[in-house]
Amino acid sequence: MSRLLIEGAKKLSGEVEVQGAKNSALPILAATILCRGENILHNCSNLSDVDAAVKILRYLGGKVSRHDKTMLVNTDDIRRFDIPHGLMREMRSSIVFLGAVLSRNKRAKLSFPGGCELGPRPIDLHLKALRQMGAIIKEYHGILDCSAPKGLKGTKIALSFPSVGATENIMLAAVNASGTTTITNAAREPEICDLADFLNKCGAKIYGAGEGTIVIDGVDKLDSAQHTIISDRIVTSTLMSCAAITGSEIIIRGIVAEHLNSIISTFEEAGCKILCSKGSMYFQAPEKLRAVKSIRTMPYPGFPTDAQAPVMSALTVADGTTCFVENIFESRYKHVGELARLGANIKVEGKVAIVEGVDTLSGAFVEAQDLRGAAALVTAGLAAEGTTEVAGIKYLERGYENFEVVLSGLGATVKKI
Ligand code: EPZ
Repeated sequence: MSRLLIEGAKKLSGEVEVQGAKNSALPILAATILCRGENILHNCSNLSDVDAAVKILRYLGGKVSRHDKTMLVNTDDIRRFDIPHGLMREMRSSIVFLGAVLSRNKRAKLSFPGGCELGPRPIDLHLKALRQMGAIIKEYHGILDCSAPKGLKGTKIALSFPSVGATENIMLAAVNASGTTTITNAAREPEICDLADFLNKCGAKIYGAGEGTIVIDGVDKLDSAQHTIISDRIVTSTLMSCAAITGSEIIIRGIVAEHLNSIISTFEEAGCKILCSKGSMYFQAPEKLRAVKSIRTMPYPGFPTDAQAPVMSALTVADGTTCFVENIFESRYKHVGELARLGANIKVEGKVAIVEGVDTLSGAFVEAQDLRGAAALVTAGLAAEGTTEVAGIKYLERGYENFEVVLSGLGATVKKI
């Protein structure tokens, strides 16, 4: 299992280009199942989660080839409608294939996606919505056996929670359904808009993506399209956290400023100077960060749960106390114990984590247990005195492309062993 060795307490400097969004690439790869002909996807990051989605497309019969950051995907020869256990377990968000496979084949057989490091990952909202669209879903021995012999029908769906995955699955099931589907209390994340943009380029009729209500008029078939995936706002948030914790001044290129409003205001409150223009961000951290009174994770456009861990790392050395409330996932503080090994002072009570700023962190051996927790430990290691060894880098590689290379490019001393 690979590990990262970080020599900390070094400032970063220079410029970095941010990668394409993992959480946009995944649903768009699933969407290609509905498109005839060759799709060309640009800015598709080289990540193990993307590899897992490609494996599923190839298993189903799709042809996929990667040319650096561009992915060519042709799913004309797809004949299968089952996704085996091993492939489903590899990536929990494989559930987003359900809507597309069911819509294309009128059949879908997936194994129940397991829980993951963030706690149980229920899919009740996905299944309830698909049943409302006419799907017959049987659940036995951990298998989801779905069929829609008469095809899927458009209907009104009121989500009890603006679930990102459920919104994506409903969109994918609705684009070729008969009639109109209305989703109220839909997720508003930028990745939802990116998926809608791609599908509309293919001939879908999706209105209101990014708003609370999305309307989808079913069409007979979709063509293929060329699309550039949006930049990864969570990786950008992580790079901002790395610069903040090391008191650095860096430039981040290829960002979408309006996707980062809650992160920008958080770091401005912490004393950072941030200027954004034409897709670039100038980020200058103070010698000592100020604590941010409270950070509550919320559905977009609120503070993103995925940024909670790296931003928490940055604030472990701030002057004062920050109160985090994790409202989205029930166990997303696994990085806290490991940050404590580096000298952080954090108390967790249920959804609340109280971070008392300390003067400095000191290097230690730490172990990542989930994707954003891994990013948090690397962020902390950049500031810790001495050497920090981060194990469990396979989690980091799910969502960060060559992160040790990216950080070395900013002057950090990071080595993969
Ligand atoms: C997506 O996960 C992202 N993953 C997550 O990013 C992100 O943290 C999350 O959205 C929230 O923004 C991808 O896009 C691949 P949800 P998803 O459905 O779709 C509960 C990362 O680090 N829920 O919005 O699974 C659920 O348990 C990953 O890149 C139900 O109860 O998120 C959770 O508490 C981690 N029933 C909350 O809603 C359901 O049917 C948010 O889940 C579905 C979800």
